[in-house]
Order: sequence, then structure tokens, then C-alpha cells
Amino acid sequence: NYNIPVIDVPEGLKDLITDGYNFIKNNTEQHRCDILELNFMGQKVVCLSGEEGARLFYDSERFQRYGAVPMRVQKTLFGVNAVHTMDGQGHIHRKQLFLSLMRKKEKKVAQLVMKNWESRIDRWATSKNVVLFDEAKDVLCSAACQWAGIELPESEVKKRADELIAMVDALGGLGPRYYVGKLARIKTEKWLGGIIDDVRNGRLKPEENTALFKIAFFKELDGKELSSQMAAVELLNIIRPMVAISLLVTFTALAIHKHPEHKEKLLLDSSFREMFVQEVRRYYPFVPVLGARSRKGFTWKGCEFKEKMLVILDVYGINHDPRIWDDPDKFNPRRFEDFDSSLYNFIPQGGGDPTKTHRCPAEPITIEVLKNTLDFLANKITYDVPDQNLSYSLKRAPSLPQSGFIISNVKWR
Ligand code: HEM
Repeated sequence: NYNIPVIDVPEGLKDLITDGYNFIKNNTEQHRCDILELNFMGQKVVCLSGEEGARLFYDSERFQRYGAVPMRVQKTLFGVNAVHTMDGQGHIHRKQLFLSLMRKKEKKVAQLVMKNWESRIDRWATSKNVVLFDEAKDVLCSAACQWAGIELPESEVKKRADELIAMVDALGGLGPRYYVGKLARIKTEKWLGGIIDDVRNGRLKPEENTALFKIAFFKELDGKELSSQMAAVELLNIIRPMVAISLLVTFTALAIHKHPEHKEKLLLDSSFREMFVQEVRRYYPFVPVLGARSRKGFTWKGCEFKEKMLVILDVYGINHDPRIWDDPDKFNPRRFEDFDSSLYNFIPQGGGDPTKTHRCPAEPITIEVLKNTLDFLANKITYDVPDQNLSYSLKRAPSLPQSGFIISNVKWR
């Protein structure tokens, strides 16, 4: 049993945001424990870390998602009442929709992304500087819409990509960032809601295997279709996270740049490229934490969980936990050569079995898109990396290298 430390968080969210990705990790390491209590402006919140903490967090007998995602995150990142906030049979049924859309689609999606990368080279060759993050979000937005069956003219790609990124960027933003993200969501849901209506009344005829078609005609367990607004929210839950991969693309480019010692392996060895991508997903900051609420009262390792108590899982901390990873603050793709993965010890996109929990259904797609993009950046083109500010903050979620990763003098290899 632990003596559970209690940490005062007098200013609530503001304190957490200021302390950033390391907030829970610093405290659990200091107290050598997997569990902390926060006195969150007078309210008790429990933080879980470590593999055992993750295993507990994904026990759906003990925890639910309903009421756990703050309204400010629903109004920006996920959408109100989206799949992320569902529980029980209703969740499993909705999750099947997403899993069926993604099953064995990773090669196809990665190819769409590659085509979009390749279509940009000629333009890059004539520009002085190219900001990789800006290009990545547009590339991924085009590819996501093509995959989902949404027609998006080239002239609108940047505008929509910026709106989708604004929703992601709102995550840890309190002032203007939050409002920009919220407004972007309102506009995008209206746009996609209109498209769903057009599909339902026959004005648009997307192919039947597309997300657009499947979501438009998806039926809940009660046999009813989703409202067009709810359908728009779930369609967005496909294209928004696709565009969010641009953050990891930018970190991938940073990792290639910072670790020239891996150059030869990246060129020759596709299994090394996979390890490299896994290490990018582990090492760089992306998802900071996840939240749930206890369904009922129980005690675990001496900690009393009361009914409906808010519980936070330290995703970033688990990615850097020295009990799971040797020398966790070192970027070392080789660690994945013999990594003994369980469902709870490597969870950059959530833990547990994706068919039963909220774990991201798109890990295979994310990995394949990043592997192909890594191959493209490391092996298909050459470029210079001019002087720029490549630092990124662990006190801002989501984080990104300051400059967005500028490249110049781009050529086919
Ligand atoms: C869920 C991360 C890419 C669709 C999640 C969760 C995380 C996550 C942390 C929640 C896990 C939980 O609550 O237990 C990421 C990261 C990505 C990524 C870091 C890479 C940048 C994608 C992509 C798609 C996607 C490309 C769609 C094509 C979803 C959906 C859910 C989800 C629909 C909700 C699942 C549920 O609630 O059951 N993702 N994701 N994600 N992700 Fe991803």
C-alpha cells in the first residue's frame, strides 16, 4: 500500500497547463508512486500512472467516460457527445463503425498521403523556404477527405486544414486559442452537416465504402440514424485526427535532423523505419493525459475512489516511465527491437484492446502514414535545414517545434 501524496492545485486547470506534460510525472517520481491525489480547487481528483495505473484506468467495470471529458474539450477537440464520451454497448456499437472503416485500410490511406506529398515537390523546388508543418496539414487534409469521400477543391484545402488544426490546438489553450478552436468547430460541423444532408437526400452520391456514406447511414442500437450534426461530429473524428498527424510528421522531421547517425539505416531497413516511428510516438509530446470517472466507490492500493470521481491517466508519463523504458529521455529507436509490449505499457494513442476500450482505432493507419512519410523525407527527397528555432515546449499542449520545421533547396533524390 502507498501513502498517497496529495498535491494542491489551487488554480486548477491553469496550474496544470503551466506545469505541462511533466506535471504528474514530476510528482509521481518525487513520491515514487503510481497514484496521486490532487486537491483541485477543493475537489479530489486522482492521477494514475505506470502500467498498473493504465490497466486500472481501462477497467470498464470501474470507470466510465460519461462526464469525464470537460465541455471545453468537447466543444473544440472531440465534439459534444462524440464516441469518446460514450460507454457500454452504445460505445462498442459506435466503435465498430470506426473500426470497420479502418480495417486493413492503412496501405490505402498511406498511399493517398504519399501521392499528396509527391504532388507538392515541384512547387517546393521553386520556393525559397517550405514550412513542413504547414505542408503536412494540407497534405493530410487532402488525403483524409479523399479517403473519407468528401469532395474538397484544392482552393479550400488550406482553409479547412487550418480549421481542423485549430480544434487540436485549442486543447491546452485558455484564452484566444480556445475561442479560435471553438469557432472552427462550429464552422466545420456546419459544413459537414450540410454534406451529410446532401448524401441523405441523394444530392451527393459518395461510394458506399467511404466514411461519408457509412456514417450518413449508420444506425444506432435503437435503429435510428445519427442527427446530421452528430454524423458531422463523427465524420470530423476521422478527418481531424488525420490532420493532427501533421504534428507527428513535424517531430519525425526533427528526429531525422537531430539524429543523422540513423541515416543509413533509414535508407536501407524498413523494419528500422517502423522502430523509428514508434520511438517518435513515444518520445515526443502529443497526448498529455486522458480522463475517466469512477462508476462506483472502491479502494485500490490504499486509494479510495468515490463514485463519479474524476480520474486522470498520465499518458506522457507512461511514455517516459523509467520502469518501462531504459534511459527514457534518450531518443533510441533500437529499444523497439525487443520491446515486450502489453496493452498497457506503450499507450501514445490510448491503451487496452481497441475493440473493447476507447483506445484509438487508427494506430495502424497512423504508423503506416508516418512510416511512408519518413521514407519520403529521409530517402526520396533532399533538402537543407536552414538556421531556425527548432525548440518545442513541454508546457504547451499540443506542442510543436517553434519554426514548424523549415526546409529549403528541396529536390528529388
Ligand atoms: C481515440 C490518439 C490518430 C480516430 C484516440 C485516443 C487517443 C488517440 C489518445 C483516446 C484513447 C482513450 O480515450 O482511451 C491519437 C493520436 C493520433 C491519432 C496521437 C495520431 C496523431 C487518429 C486517426 C484517426 C483517429 C488518424 C482517424 C482516422 C480516433 C477515434 C477515437 C480515437 C475515432 C475514439 C475511439 C473511442 O472513443 O472509442 N486517439 N489518435 N485517431 N482516435 Fe485517435
